[in-house]
Amino acid sequence: MSGRLEGRLVALGVTGSIAAYKAVELARRLAAEGAELQVLMSRAAQAFVGPLTFETLTRRRVMADPLELLADGRIGHVVVADTADVIVVAPATARWLAAMAAGLADDVITATCLASAAPVVVAPAMDGEMWDHPATRANAARLQSYGYTVVAPESGPLASGQSGVGRLASAERIIEAVVIAVAGRPVRAPEAALRPPADASAREPDLVGRRIAVTAGGTAEPIDPVRFIGNRSSGRMGVAVAAAALARGAEVTLIAGSVSVPLPEAATVVRAATSAAMRAAVLEALPVCDALVMAAAVADFRPRWPAERKLQRTEGLTLELEPTTDILAEASRIAHGLDAEGAPTREPLHPRPVLVGFAAETGDLDRAAAKLARKRVDLLVANDVSEPGSGFGSETNRVTVLAADGSVEPWPLLSKREVADRLLDRVAALMEARDAAPRPAEVTR
Ligand code: CTP
Repeated sequence: MSGRLEGRLVALGVTGSIAAYKAVELARRLAAEGAELQVLMSRAAQAFVGPLTFETLTRRRVMADPLELLADGRIGHVVVADTADVIVVAPATARWLAAMAAGLADDVITATCLASAAPVVVAPAMDGEMWDHPATRANAARLQSYGYTVVAPESGPLASGQSGVGRLASAERIIEAVVIAVAGRPVRAPEAALRPPADASAREPDLVGRRIAVTAGGTAEPIDPVRFIGNRSSGRMGVAVAAAALARGAEVTLIAGSVSVPLPEAATVVRAATSAAMRAAVLEALPVCDALVMAAAVADFRPRWPAERKLQRTEGLTLELEPTTDILAEASRIAHGLDAEGAPTREPLHPRPVLVGFAAETGDLDRAAAKLARKRVDLLVANDVSEPGSGFGSETNRVTVLAADGSVEPWPLLSKREVADRLLDRVAALMEARDAAPRPAEVTR
């Protein structure tokens, strides 16, 4: 039997009442009705219940700060406001009712409600005298005048030791109100990529002990001390891979070119502005990493003679460009122990890092397959940048993953974080296979 909230995204706001613990059971029951949940907590609520409880239950990271950005750079509460089918605030304290009645967006829950067109269901919980206070009543009435449903508290023993009206309404009554609030409305954002991402920290920490080097962003190749040749890469994809790997327990070295998104704090960040600096950083990280993910958009050409002094405006300017080193191809040769011609020249690295390349293509997968072979990588993530919702600056990506074993896997349109996690699943499998295989020397012995 499918639940009454199947396919719905329910935002559950929990504020700082002793009844916050009851929101855990409410979350469980909402999930049992088929809802996907995003929990929002006020700071005070966290004094009553730890976010981890909700995160384990909902498999989404709790949002607690109106300024919080998602791993992919989107503003957390705006994503919830735009995609939730209903916002349920349970328990709602007297303070929260007042803040919401006044439109005072100083916590993540009021901010989300203000920014949202979704129906809102509010279940107050507080001491009897507080609920009876004209201020509280006026605030509750004001919320009703906004179209919000107020599920009135029930009578019974209260935390104060007194008895009266103030207990959080039963889960049945709240869920009933939620079902009524969404009835007849289409699901607002059925696409997973639009919704707040499923919680990465809820994934198994399957990369503990693994060292992963990731490059992200574009390079800037100097023309003179103030000008450079750059590209449109935002660094989102590489940063998403780094954040996902960290959340799964890996040690991450993030080699960052020019990026326009915040970098995860837990990564060891190496700044590399130019392709030459990026090459040096990658070659340093290579021998001590289990996997190298080259998500950076490295310039293919750079000015051959960068000027030491700022160029003056003249009639015109002709730049002579030279090719940059293909960092991934070089790293791959070192990892495989090959020389520039591809002949064995030294011991391969052991353990050999799993190598992942990215390729911005415009439609043609044959080129990607050739690139995979030419660069001798284990996985190549081909990204059709001509497609809407894919490529530079976008939050989402539709990619096709090619593997050295010849397999070709087209993935649906996903958030970059989801692409990162799926990619890391493949990388994890390759690392395990590598570790299980005997060393070539051991085979002959
Ligand atoms: N790459 C690199 N060093 C370069 C250029 C690219 O390491 N100088 C890496 C990128 O980080 C990416 C992969 O190689 O992982 C593919 O880059 P792309 O520019 O698509 O490939 P190219 O070799 O430049 O092929 P083409 O220009 O023919 O498409």
